[in-house]
Amino acid sequence: MPSQIWVLDRSVGRERAEALLGSLAAREIPASLREVPGGLALVIDDAPAGLERPPEVVRSSTIEVPTGSQVTRRHFLDTFAVSLSVAAIASGTVLAGLYASPPHERTPETDEMDVGSVSEIEAQGSRVFRFGREPCVVVAAGGRFHALSTVCSHLGCIVQWVPRSQHLACPCHRASFDLEGNVREGPPPRPLTAYAVAVRNDRVVVRRRTTA
Ligand code: FES
Repeated sequence: MPSQIWVLDRSVGRERAEALLGSLAAREIPASLREVPGGLALVIDDAPAGLERPPEVVRSSTIEVPTGSQVTRRHFLDTFAVSLSVAAIASGTVLAGLYASPPHERTPETDEMDVGSVSEIEAQGSRVFRFGREPCVVVAAGGRFHALSTVCSHLGCIVQWVPRSQHLACPCHRASFDLEGNVREGPPPRPLTAYAVAVRNDRVVVRRRTTA
């Protein structure tokens, strides 16, 4: 399988980066954390097809690593991660705080957002997106769509949708939430912010609502 390098936004601290690492580990995806110019990067040795990038990723690249020993492979990935982060800084992507990799572009503040076609999202099962500045996920389950903020209401780690058990998991303190955003277990004091979802002309449209 190909390897992936994910350069994280420079505002992402080590705790959040380790939480992302934990969420990969929970899915049995081997990865490691590297310090690179301008911040941190996740190095994923064997990335499964269709692996979704979290919203914190400002730059990513999929690469085929030359065959050789594990040391050679690790050295190659580390070197590539550094060069990728330098390129991100040079292009102004990181310094500007923008999200360069679609679909993780930062979008203007708005009360309504088209997040994709019904068929695409049903085929993928879920899709991460940004609603203004808020990292979110829309999930197709039980014949309908659910849209939720992925910012944990405890200390702000990013939760991940776990299709196998049909819940959202926070890797930081082992919390989980149902598809309405309600806390199922763990320390979060509040539900996740949930958004209204409508289907219009085969498009999935997410809207803010006045109550979470
Ligand atoms: Fe999510 Fe603590 S930050 S459970």
